[in-house]
Amino acid sequence: MADETRQSERYSGISRRGFLKGVGTGAAATGLLTTIEPSTAEAARTKSQGPGAMKLSLKVNGQVHRTEAEPRHVLLDVLRQNLDITGPKPICERGACGGCTVLVDGEPVYSCMMLAIDVVGKEITTVEGLADGEKLDPVQEAFIEHDALMCGFCTPGFLMSVRALIDRNPNPSLDDVKEAVAGNTCRCGTYPRVFEAALKAAKITRGEA
Ligand code: FES
Ligand code: FES
Repeated sequence: MADETRQSERYSGISRRGFLKGVGTGAAATGLLTTIEPSTAEAARTKSQGPGAMKLSLKVNGQVHRTEAEPRHVLLDVLRQNLDITGPKPICERGACGGCTVLVDGEPVYSCMMLAIDVVGKEITTVEGLADGEKLDPVQEAFIEHDALMCGFCTPGFLMSVRALIDRNPNPSLDDVKEAVAGNTCRCGTYPRVFEAALKAAKITRGEA
């Protein structure tokens, strides 16, 4: 019987062992294809960027700036080093102090923690964009009136956080103010005056002062 089987395999030109090996290889190949195919297609759809510098446009304080930056560069560095917009301050550069706070589409963000390529097409506002020509923003007016700064290094960040608060809540309470600036640190300890100034800025913005 075994002899008959071996003989019939010889005539058909394929052995059972060879057939099973072939099926196994085919299945493995099929499995490989189904695994690789979607990711290859995905890769073809995804445009790779970097690691070198790439061109990008950033809209800062209403003005479009064209520059070049690597995908790993954070907004803070591109603002300061490429565009010479130095209001946002590099203090901790790790999302702990708020000195680099800017508004992105009206929301306060730490620009040291935001990649520049992630804000292409968005409205970026820095402290330089608060005043309207010679006319100071009510937040700036109130900070001056209440003497809400000492060395001033943290002040641009506080101004942006307070501006964002008043834009979303024109009549904030003291607790609202404290919460809004909770991500900003002042080593000179000007907090009480910052709180007063923020409440006054809201009043000025509402036309009540
Ligand atoms: S410099 Fe960005 S949070 Fe401190
Ligand atoms: S005024 Fe000096 S750190 Fe705030």
